[in-house]
Amino acid sequence: MDLLEIEGGVPLTGRATVSGSKNAALPIIAAAIACDGPVELHGIPDLVDVRTLLELLSTLGVQSSRHRQTASQEDAIDTTTVLDNAGPSGVLRLETIDTNPVLADYELVRRMRASVCVLGPLLGRRGRACVSLPGGCNIGHRPIDLHLKGLAALGAEIRVERGYVFAEAEKLRGADISLLGPQGSTVTGTCNVMSAAVFADGITTIEGAACEPEVVDFGLFLNRAGASISGLGTPTVRVEGTGRLTGTTHTVIPDRIEAATLLAAAVITRGRVSIANVVPEHLTAVLVAFRDMGVRVEIQRVAGTTELPGSEGAEITVDVPGSLRPIDLTALPYPGVPTDVQAQFTAVLSTVPGMSRVTDRVFPERFMHVSELLRMGAQIRHDGGMATIQGGGRLTGAQVMASDLRASAALVLAALAAEGETVIRRIYHLDRGYEKLEQKLRSLGARIERRKEG
Ligand code: UD1
Repeated sequence: MDLLEIEGGVPLTGRATVSGSKNAALPIIAAAIACDGPVELHGIPDLVDVRTLLELLSTLGVQSSRHRQTASQEDAIDTTTVLDNAGPSGVLRLETIDTNPVLADYELVRRMRASVCVLGPLLGRRGRACVSLPGGCNIGHRPIDLHLKGLAALGAEIRVERGYVFAEAEKLRGADISLLGPQGSTVTGTCNVMSAAVFADGITTIEGAACEPEVVDFGLFLNRAGASISGLGTPTVRVEGTGRLTGTTHTVIPDRIEAATLLAAAVITRGRVSIANVVPEHLTAVLVAFRDMGVRVEIQRVAGTTELPGSEGAEITVDVPGSLRPIDLTALPYPGVPTDVQAQFTAVLSTVPGMSRVTDRVFPERFMHVSELLRMGAQIRHDGGMATIQGGGRLTGAQVMASDLRASAALVLAALAAEGETVIRRIYHLDRGYEKLEQKLRSLGARIERRKEG
């Protein structure tokens, strides 16, 4: 197993490019199951989660190949090969060669919760799905009851037996569905219901649909493939059953969570960093939080720096002109501050003098990073979905353990600001969702090395 060694204390400076969005890529890749014809995806990051999903798709009759595309040449590479320079230029091709398999096995699903994204496409296109229930997870209880409720409303017969969801429907029918749960809507649940509803007779109206940019990107992908979906980005999404998806080409949006993490790395080290390939509108709440802390945020529109269709590219630069102020921050569904940056903000705020409060309304139990940050000298009290941070004390390097994807990012940030060396174990969590994070941080001046444990 790999570990990271980080020698803290260097203010980061320079420019980094954000990769394509993991959370947009995963449901879009899964939807290739439902497309008749080749799907070509641009900007898909080379991540362990993406590889896991491609492995699952290969058991479901979908072939994939990665291509590195330049103006003059194109070489195909095996999906298991590490891309040296993935990011926006990498191309992933997917094609269904067998529409019979419907079983998503526990061995693959347990490695990644987002495997559940195959449920809607399988049910819609193949009429049946047998998908292992994703189990527990370090960020709290994560049921899929809303996914199942939505698919049942479309007329699917759903059974949960022996750890698997069995979903079956001879014909799906459009319906009025609410996907609102106690913690708001569901991102992957909205994607599952949307993709199944494409194959339903008539119109489906989803109330309480997730408004996250990744869901919008997913809907735009389906529309390119022949769906008729309106209301994307609002809580009311309307899907007209068109009965078929074809092959298509699509570029995924930049990863707003990676973008926020890189900005947080600049802030926690009191550096100055610019990030390219971003959509600032996707980061509004994050940028407001940084500005409230006293961070200077500049947005520069630069044509052609993102491949997002119809959107002008941008660069965001942050630096810290004076002393920072504590803030109260609440993670909420979009357009609020994402739960996926809550841990990173907790790390940053532990370096800001004064008392900050961080609450997570999406995953109230998602505070595993707190106990590791305490080992680095942070002063945080965690109680019932809220962390109270007495910031500004000294952070010192320590041996720490990553517990989940974003908690790992928080530990990397704390380590960048800490005095001395931090060793972070179990960084496979980080590899699930950040493309070349340590290379990007190193290019900004960070002293960070990956080593084999032992
Ligand atoms: C997605 C993201 C994840 C992010 C999360 C919230 C992907 C691959 N993952 O996860 O990074 O942290 O959105 O923005 O896109 N819930 C229910 N019943 C359900 C489904 C969810 O009660 O059937 C609850 C969850 O426990 C949670 C909240 O709803 O409290 C939001 O979860 P959801 O949006 O479904 O998260 P994911 O789609 O799994």
